[in-house]
Order: sequence, then C-alpha cells, then structure tokens
Amino acid sequence: MKDTQLRIGIIGINGRGRLSRYWHDPDGKSIVAAAADISQYNLDQFRQYGNADAFCTLDYHELLARDDIDAVAVTTPDKFHEEHAIAALQAGKPVYCDKPMAITIDGCDRMLAAARDAHRKLMIGFNMRYMTFVRKMKELVESGEIGQIKAVWIRHFVGMGTLYYFHGWHALRANCTSLLLQKGCHDIDVMHFVTGRYTRRVAAFGGLDYFGGDKPNDLKCENCELTATCPDDVHDLMSAKKPDRQYCAFRKEVDIPDNYVTIMELDGGIKATYNECHFTPDYHRNYVFIGTKGRIENNELENKIWIWRRRDGQNRQPDVTIDLGELDKNRLEEVGHGGSDAGICADFVDMVLEDRDPPVPALAGRMSVAVGCMAQKSLDNGGAPYDIPAIG
Ligand SMILES: NC(=O)c1ccc[n+]([C@@H]2O[C@H](COP(=O)([O-])OP(=O)(O)OC[C@H]3O[C@@H](n4cnc5c(N)ncnc54)[C@H](O)[C@@H]3O)[C@@H](O)[C@H]2O)c1
Repeated sequence: MKDTQLRIGIIGINGRGRLSRYWHDPDGKSIVAAAADISQYNLDQFRQYGNADAFCTLDYHELLARDDIDAVAVTTPDKFHEEHAIAALQAGKPVYCDKPMAITIDGCDRMLAAARDAHRKLMIGFNMRYMTFVRKMKELVESGEIGQIKAVWIRHFVGMGTLYYFHGWHALRANCTSLLLQKGCHDIDVMHFVTGRYTRRVAAFGGLDYFGGDKPNDLKCENCELTATCPDDVHDLMSAKKPDRQYCAFRKEVDIPDNYVTIMELDGGIKATYNECHFTPDYHRNYVFIGTKGRIENNELENKIWIWRRRDGQNRQPDVTIDLGELDKNRLEEVGHGGSDAGICADFVDMVLEDRDPPVPALAGRMSVAVGCMAQKSLDNGGAPYDIPAIG
C-alpha cells in the first residue's frame, strides 16, 4: 500500500468523527472517502464540511462491503466500538478505534481475537500519548532522571464533567460501564505508557455524590424553570451544538458515579492512585511519578513539569522547572486536544501505508479498560481488591 493515498471510512461521523479534518486531505496521504452514521443530518453535514463526494450510508455494513475503502475509523459511542471494530476487521480493514476500546473486558478480548484472526491491525485512539507533557514525562522516566519508579499519583479534575458527561449518554452505566473507562482510560493508559508497566491489582471507592436526582428523564435545560439559577445549566452552550447533550444532569436515570478514588498495584511493585471527580470547577490533570532518585510532576495550567531530585535535607522548591511552552507550539490550538489529534491521525495513516505496528497497540486499550472495569466492580463491592484478569 506504500505510496498510495489511503481511503478511510468513518463510522460515527459527527462528534469525534470530526477527526475527518485531519484525515481528509485530497493533496495528502489520505482522504475520507466514506461515512456511516445513524443520523442522516450528520451525514449531510459531513458532505458540507468534509467531502461532498463521499459515499454516505445509514448502514455501516454498506461502507464495510466497499473494496475502495482501505481502512476504517470507529468513532461511535463506546458501547458500539466492539461491534463496529470487529465487523470492520472481519471485512479485512485495519481499524482506528477511539477510546475506550470497549465497555467490557470480554469485549476487548473479542476485539483482540478478531484482529489476530483477520490479520488486521487495530489501533486505539489514545491521543494523550501525543501530548507534549506526556511525552516529556516519559522521556524523563526513561532517561533514569528519577530512578526506578515506585509510585504514581494521578488527579483528574473533570470540570467539564457536567458539560460533557452528565447531560447525555455518558451518564448511564449501560452506555459506558464506568467513567473510569470513558474518561479515566486515558489516564490509566498514560500511567501504563510512562511507566512501561501494566496494572495487576485494583480497588476503588466512589459514588454518585453530586449529579442524579429526581428530575424527569426527558427534562432538557432549555425547558427548565431553573435555567437562570442552575450552575449546571448548559442550554446556551449545548442546544445548537449537541442537542442530545442537554438533558438535566439531575434526572432520575443518571446512575454512573461522578466521584472515584482508585488504588492500583502495577508490575514491578509500583503503587498508584487515580482520583477522578466530575464536579470540580476546574479542568486539568495532575500526574506525579516518584522514583528512587526523585519525582516529577506536571502542571497543566502552567504547562510546566517540575523535577525534584533526592539529596540531603528537604527540597522545598523543584530542582528543575521545564517550561513546555517552547516545546509545545500547538498547545493553543483551539481544536484537536493540543495538537495530539493531528499526530495520532497521521500515525494511523502511516501505520497502514507503511505496514507498521500499531503506534498505540490494542493491548494497551484492553489493559486500561480492564482496570476501569475491575475498579468499578470493586467500587460496587465495598472496595474489595481485584486482580486484572488474564486475556481470555
Ligand atoms: N480520544 C479523545 O480524546 C476523544 C474525545 C471525544 C470522544 N472520544 C470518543 O469518541 C467516541 C464518540 O464520542 P462522541 O462524543 O463523538 O459521541 P456522539 O454521541 O457525538 O456520537 C458520535 C457519532 O456517532 C453517531 N452514532 C451514534 N450511534 C451510532 C451507531 N449505532 N452507528 C453509527 N453511528 C452512530 C452519532 O450520530 C454521531 O455522529 C466515544 O467513544 C468517545 O469516548 C474520544
């Protein structure tokens, strides 16, 4: 396939399917030649902003049956990833599947088996691996700067929790299993990626501590009498952009926890914590890696990494401050998660055209989903610890 233009088909064309902006480049290495979606409106929109000549269908099987589609991106909601990715692999297409890989461990294992049996590549959309601060932290760990890693502490302040997670499909366990998969799988993966180790054992506490309640399931912010005073009103923000994401965050059907505290043991005896809260006012992630020679910590708001080195006495200030501003020229890009989306999309194209190994392997997707699922199981069972099951 080298030196040809890759023809990509996307299943789930709106929302995350807008990655098409990176893949559709008529003068470049790839075009988005087809789209499948359950919404005719979304397909029509894509014809306008994307590719007027694309083959568009309401039945994804028609997309998969086409010989002129070389590769498939699955950007549908989480609970459809397994079905869509397996069908694409079985149709002989290499697949980009967005995170989380699936919403069950068994589902991930079936996807791994489908890729193996079809001899097709399966890559997971962990775009955080392409973020400058993540790459820098990995580089520092691998250089031996902080010695052997023994502890990881991660805090995820999901200040847009209400905006993206509790007004639509994410708020139901049936759709996601746990927000530890839906949101936390990125962070679990960063932890695995930076340390080079997978989680073996996990326990968690958590609950639905802020959202949910007794409001009707069909209540939307735009029709609510509390719009003027509710701190979680989104009707201005979401009504035009995402009409299916403005249901009341305090409706009865909401059943997914919004507050998680997770502890883990990784290969090599690394002890880790991951905290995720969906009702903080601020939105950012804080990673701490502690080794035998020191520790590193990022500050996403200041776009910095600090290094503390072990020596006599206490270091009150970091020994080194790395300002990522110079390294991170794309950070202010309004779309695309700080440039990481462009990077991961380019790598998917090269993976197929150059017959390379998946730059983000499916196994990584499976291992992060496994942590989220077993942590949710622990949370449901009073915090009991569980081993991560072997691949089935
Ligand atoms: N890697 C990232 O940073 C990142 C960011 C956002 C979303 N995501 C992932 O992308 C996926 C989609 O999220 P979203 O917010 O775009 O969702 P969404 O609800 O906006 O849906 C995406 C698209 O899929 C279509 N769709 C829904 N059900 C379908 C079906 N059964 N068959 C075909 N099309 C269907 C919708 O009409 C829509 O066009 C999720 O799995 C999410 O976790 C990843």
